Amino acid sequence: MTIAEAKLSVLFVCLGNICRSPTAHGVFAKLLEESGYGRLIAVDSAGTGDWHLDHAPDKRTTYVAASKGYDLSQLRARLVTPADFEQFDYIIAMDRANLRELQEMQPQGYSGHLGLFLDFSENSLHEVPDPYYGGEGGFELVFGLVEEASIGLLQHIELSHSEALSS
Ligand code: 4NP
Repeated sequence: MTIAEAKLSVLFVCLGNICRSPTAHGVFAKLLEESGYGRLIAVDSAGTGDWHLDHAPDKRTTYVAASKGYDLSQLRARLVTPADFEQFDYIIAMDRANLRELQEMQPQGYSGHLGLFLDFSENSLHEVPDPYYGGEGGFELVFGLVEEASIGLLQHIELSHSEALSS
């Protein structure tokens, strides 16, 4: 399914597109499949920085995800672009720095939702912390936050777009 064929589309954005947003991409895609939305809602991820273009996710990210049953090995890093605002209904930032960059890129009149991922979670954290320069525990934390917020985001989408998703 292409983005254009989907009823709704979600783009997850972080800095490098090798740790947090690929985790969100893989976890949300599997949640969509399991919930019967795999052919209705498209998902992708991108980064605001260009250091890792075309790279697979970080080994630590891939390892933690694999230990929970998610295969991220086929994902490749790409940059977020202004054209993404024409394609995606939801553009979801992992932290406030990502969000600021996206707000600067956002065209006037963007009718989709641009916001923080953890706004869809009950967690007391508001940002998914960048795990890149930290230890293994940071990657586990990212994974847990992403799982929780993915469920919240899907519930929000189901409530907000029930008509589009049932037609
Ligand atoms: P991400 O993590 O934004 O979650 O993919 C990072 C990956 C790479 C870098 C920073 C954060 N970096 O500086 O190369």
